[in-house]
Amino acid sequence: MKQKLLVTILLAVLFLVQCEKKETDESLLSPVEEQKIVAIGDTLSRRLINTLVLELTKAIQEGGPEHAISVCNTTALQLTSKVAQESGKQVNIKRTTRRYRNPANAPDRWEEAALAFFEKKIQQGESPAYMIQKIDKDGEIIYRYYKPLKVGTLCLSCHGNPDDISPAVLEELKKRYPEDHATGYQEGDFRGVIRVEMRGLLTR
Ligand code: HEC
Repeated sequence: MKQKLLVTILLAVLFLVQCEKKETDESLLSPVEEQKIVAIGDTLSRRLINTLVLELTKAIQEGGPEHAISVCNTTALQLTSKVAQESGKQVNIKRTTRRYRNPANAPDRWEEAALAFFEKKIQQGESPAYMIQKIDKDGEIIYRYYKPLKVGTLCLSCHGNPDDISPAVLEELKKRYPEDHATGYQEGDFRGVIRVEMRGLLTR
C-alpha cells in the first residue's frame, strides 16, 4: 500500500518535472547538449555584462551619465559583436526586452517567449539562472541561451523613474530615442535578457 502511494507520488513528480521542462524547451536537449550550451552562453553573457558595467562606470565617472549615453548607444552593439568575434564561435549576441529603448533591440517571437518565461517565473517567486531554446529553422538547428538581466543602482541614472533622471540625460535620451520605453524601472526589476544564439556547433 505504502509502495503504491510512493509510486503515485513519484509519477506525479515526474509528470510535473516533465511539464516544467517542456515549458523551457529543454526537454528536447540531451544533457551533453545542455552542458555545452550553458558553458558558452554563460561565459559570453557574463563577459558582456562585466564589460558593459565597467565601461559604463568609467564613462559616468569621467563625465556623468549624459556622457555615458553614447557609450551605451554605440559600445553595446560593438561589444556584442566583439565578444562574439573573440570567442571564435558562430554566435550572435543581442540584448532584448519588452520595454526597449532602441527599436533594434525589440524581441522576435522566440525572444518574446523567453521574456514571458522569466516574467512568469519571477512572478512565482523563482529566479531561473537561464533558459535554452532549440529551434528548427527550416531544417537548421539553432540554440538560444538566455540570461536574465536585473536593474542595479548603476542602471537607474538612465532607466529609473524620469523624475530621478537628470535633465541633461532626459534631453539626450529624447533626442536619440523619441519612443523610449526603457525608463520607470526600480532596483531589482527584471529588465530583459542577454540572448546568445549558437549555430552549427553541436551537429552530431
Ligand atoms: C548612461 C546611461 C545608461 C546606463 C547607466 C545604463 N543604460 Fe541601458 N541603455 C542605455 C541606452 C542609451 C540604451 C540604448 C542602446 C542602444 O541604442 O542599443 C540602453 C539599452 C539597454 C538595453 C537594451 C534594450 C533596450 O532597451 O534597447 C538593456 C537590456 C539595458 N540597457 C540594460 C541596462 C542595465 C541592466 C544597466 C545597468 C547595469 C544599464 N542598462 C545602464 C543607457 C544606459
